Order: sequence, then structure tokens, then C-alpha cells
Amino acid sequence: MRSAEWYGGNDRNSYIHRAWMRRGLPADAFDGRPHIAIANTASDLTPCNAHLNEVAESVKSGIYQAGGIALNLPVVSLGETQVRPTAMLWRNMAAMAIEEMLRANPIDGVVLLGGCDKTIPSLLMAASSVDLPAVVVPGGPMLTGTFRGVPLGCGTDVWKLSEEVRAGTLSAAEFTRSESSMIRSRGHCNTMGTASTMGLLAEVLGMTLPGIAGTPAPDSRLLEMSHETGVLIVEMVQKERRPSTVLSRGSFLNAIVALAALGGSTNAVVHLLAIAGRLGIELTQDDFDTVGSEVPLLVDLLPAGRFLMDDFYRAGGLHAVLTEIRDLLDPAALTVTGRPLAEYLDSALVYDREVIRARTSPLQEAAGIAVLYGNLAPDGAVIKPAAASPELLQHRGPAVVFDSVEDLHARLDDPGLEVTADSVLVLRGCGPKGYPGMPEVANMPLPQKLLELGVRDMVRICDGRMSGTAYGTVVLHVAPEAAAGGPLSLVRTGDVIVLDVPARQLYVDIPDAELLARAPSAATVEAFAAPRRGWEKLYVDTVGQANTGADLDFLLGSSGDRVSRESH
Ligand code: FES
Repeated sequence: MRSAEWYGGNDRNSYIHRAWMRRGLPADAFDGRPHIAIANTASDLTPCNAHLNEVAESVKSGIYQAGGIALNLPVVSLGETQVRPTAMLWRNMAAMAIEEMLRANPIDGVVLLGGCDKTIPSLLMAASSVDLPAVVVPGGPMLTGTFRGVPLGCGTDVWKLSEEVRAGTLSAAEFTRSESSMIRSRGHCNTMGTASTMGLLAEVLGMTLPGIAGTPAPDSRLLEMSHETGVLIVEMVQKERRPSTVLSRGSFLNAIVALAALGGSTNAVVHLLAIAGRLGIELTQDDFDTVGSEVPLLVDLLPAGRFLMDDFYRAGGLHAVLTEIRDLLDPAALTVTGRPLAEYLDSALVYDREVIRARTSPLQEAAGIAVLYGNLAPDGAVIKPAAASPELLQHRGPAVVFDSVEDLHARLDDPGLEVTADSVLVLRGCGPKGYPGMPEVANMPLPQKLLELGVRDMVRICDGRMSGTAYGTVVLHVAPEAAAGGPLSLVRTGDVIVLDVPARQLYVDIPDAELLARAPSAATVEAFAAPRRGWEKLYVDTVGQANTGADLDFLLGSSGDRVSRESH
């Protein structure tokens, strides 16, 4: 046991380690029993994860049942709706802090409790770099709330209702009234947003107890399977089953296939790339297109479709979907149980064909992420055609350029803004370095005067991200970003931009030499030159671009679980 390095023997050091921990632990706690941390992102300020303390109790009882010692380890937690300026600025900080605490402490394995958007990615990045036996418990989605008798999808319906207010079809008072209906229970957002996507993909990667992902947070089966996860982690320690033994390139390609069939969040692109980067597993942004773009959309969930996560669970859930695309999955990819994921699919059934479609009648034939290139995005940009308007997937129109989110908000609804439904809205200064933190602003609102004319979608281009609960013809993750010297900083209002998703092209229709001869937008350069300190400085100085997962350059790879020195 790794913990024996702290507790074994009879010298002064082991005395100190043991004595300070003897506060109610069983007398044989240091006699070779595995010590398991429960890395717990429960926090009152991460409301989607607030119930994880109860989940931790079930995990704990499973650990004790299997002979282990369970230790609660509160870790950095990110409430997607609460933290400013954007939770993504803190994803790598959370991953780095969790990694160091897993390595520094006397533990043999870890159960990772996450839910809200950035929490499962940061936990998996950390666990991959330490490479101790690790298993995820996804906290699960909330139940569906209703407003005026109609189900509400968290996030997605906030955008829809707020656009209705701007279009004058919903009063401000009614909008406020809908607030208390939006969040019905404990759990994370109930659409196929980033939290749902990453919880499900954690299982597709093989990093959860098979069958747990997608279980609604208030469902008693979540606690039952949390207990089982506690039992499992003790076995994983005994068998030395680590992230590096579970995860392979095949696991990640399975996740890409599942992402498309589920209609999952575009944020999964940066998160999966970052996790793979910690393990040194070869994965590129292009893999999302080559492996996933032709995969059909089978799940009719918001934002691409109609239903919500508890409908999905009722309809058969993740395994039912994976059964439909089983031939596209790597059958050898393992799970934390030591058995391949494919072995768990034999008994899966679909109970509602409205929610989970058959392979022969998909919602869309080809639904994965498309990766675009051209003189606007030499290192690529992504679009989710499943959430876009089909008629806009090939489009040519004049750019209306905004230098920052503040610039967008100041001018978007100006009656004098020269914009038509054919215009292409360009928002820059929102990449990892530029904002900093790559916020979810790419799905920028449409100009009021066009909304009033009934326009509901336009081509939008940004170096930032888009909320997993958003929809629209939005090109995002443009790399390099404007603040890193990308050509997005050279575009001017009036330039003609061409989007051709079938041809995978995104370019501004002027000769490359003319484009590159321009000076970058002064506002972008100025914002980037702002003085910084602390985490923000470290982040801006070392963060990579979206096409490689936006991790810090010195966090790539693994440092393992060894700590060779101590100060006692
Ligand atoms: Fe936490 Fe949506 S805000 S999952």
C-alpha cells in the first residue's frame, strides 16, 4: 500500500502520521487497509453539487464494507453559474490543486465526486496526472421543472425565454416568475449540456461504475451505486487498476462516437483533449471530425432536440444508446471494473423510441463535431451542426466585428448598427488568453431589430466557447485566438466571410497576403496587454489553445503518485 509509506513502521515519522489521524478510525486502520480519499466537490456555492455530501456517505459505507478506510477530501469546486469571470479560467487551477492534494496525501485510491460542468473534467485531469486508482461518481442531473405546464430545460430555456423578452413576446414579470420553476431539485442541468455530457462520457471512457451515469441526482439508485463504487475502489487498489490501465486511445475514440450520438456539448472537445493530454494519449481535435462527424444523432434531448435527462434515463439511458452504435465502439476499451465497456451492453433496452432513436431512424444522419479550417482558423475551429440551422451551414455574408463581450453588449442593439440576417457576427478577444479563460459567449445574442423581424439564427464566429445548453449556427474555439495573434484579430467589419461546413472551410474572402498585411485590432492588443498577477498571470502566460485542450503547458503529462521527501 502506498499509505504504508506514511503509516508503516515504528519510527517518529509514522508515529506522527498515525497519531494525528487516530480520531475515531478503527484500531486496525493502519494495518494495511487501503486508505481511499473521496475527492468531494460538494459546495454551497456549486449548487449543482451540493448533494454530494450525501453521495459521499454512501461511497464511504461501501469503502468500509470492502475493508478500506474512507477519507473525505473537499477539493476546489466550480459553480458554473456563480464564479466570475468564467469557470473555465479556474478549470486548470482546480485540476492542479486536486492533483497536488491527491499526490501529497497518504492515500491509495480516490473516488471522484463531480457534477457541474468543470468539476468532472478537473477531477479526471488531476487523477490522470497522479495515476492512483480512481473512479468517478457523476452527481447526476436534476428533475425536470415546468413553467406554464411546459418542461423547462436548464440553460437552453433561459436563452429562449430571454430572447422572447427581447422580442417583446414575454413580459419581464413572467420571465422572473419562470426563475423558480427552472431548478426543480438537486443535481446538475437537465439538458444535454456540458455536465450531462461529461458525466456520460466519464462512463464511456470507462471511469465510472457501468450503469451509473445519467442517474438523476434525487434517484435512490444513485446512492445504491455510490455504495457499490465504494466497494469497487477497494478492489481497484488491490488490483492496481489505475487511469493509465483503464484509459486508452480507444476509450477516447469511444467517447467521441458517443458524444455525437448523444448530441453532447462542444465543451467535451477541450475537456477530452485535456484529459488525454495528461495521460500522453494521442488525441487531436481532428479526431472529433474523422471519428465522430458521421455518427448519427440518436438522442432527442435539448438543446438539439426536445426531451430532458430524466426522460433519457427513463428511456434506457446511456447503455441503450451505446447498444445502437455498438459496431462503432472499440470493443477492447476497458472500464474501472477491469472488464470492457462492450460487455455491459448486452442487456440494454430502449424503452422509449421517441427519446432514444433507432440507428435506422436517427434525428440526424451525421451529427458529430465538424472541424473547420481556413485563413480565419489556421489551427481549426469547431461547429456542432446538430445545433445549427441547416440552411446556414453554407453561408456567405459580411462580417460585423466586435472586439470584446463589452463591445458586443454596447453596440448589438444600437438601431444604427448595420446588420442584416445575412451578416456574420464575429466576436473576438474571448479565447483562453484573451478574455482570459475562454468563456461561453460564442452563442452571442442576435440584434434586437432582427429578432423583431423574426430572425432566430445567424452565423456567429468566436474564439471562445459556447454553453453546452446553447444552440445556433455558431463557429467556436477559433484557433489561434485573436489575442494569440490569430487572423481573427485582422478581420474588419464588412469583410465577406465564407462558412462551408460540408467542405470544412471557414475563411474571409480576401487574399491571404492582404489579410496578413493588416495590423491586429487595437482593442484586442490593448486588452491583452493589461497587467496581471496571481493565477491569472500564470494562466495567461502558459495556457495552450483550444485545439489542444486549453491546458497549461507545464501540466501536460503525468508526475505519478510518488513524493520522495518529507519534513518531519
Ligand atoms: Fe451546474 Fe449547469 S450550472 S451543470
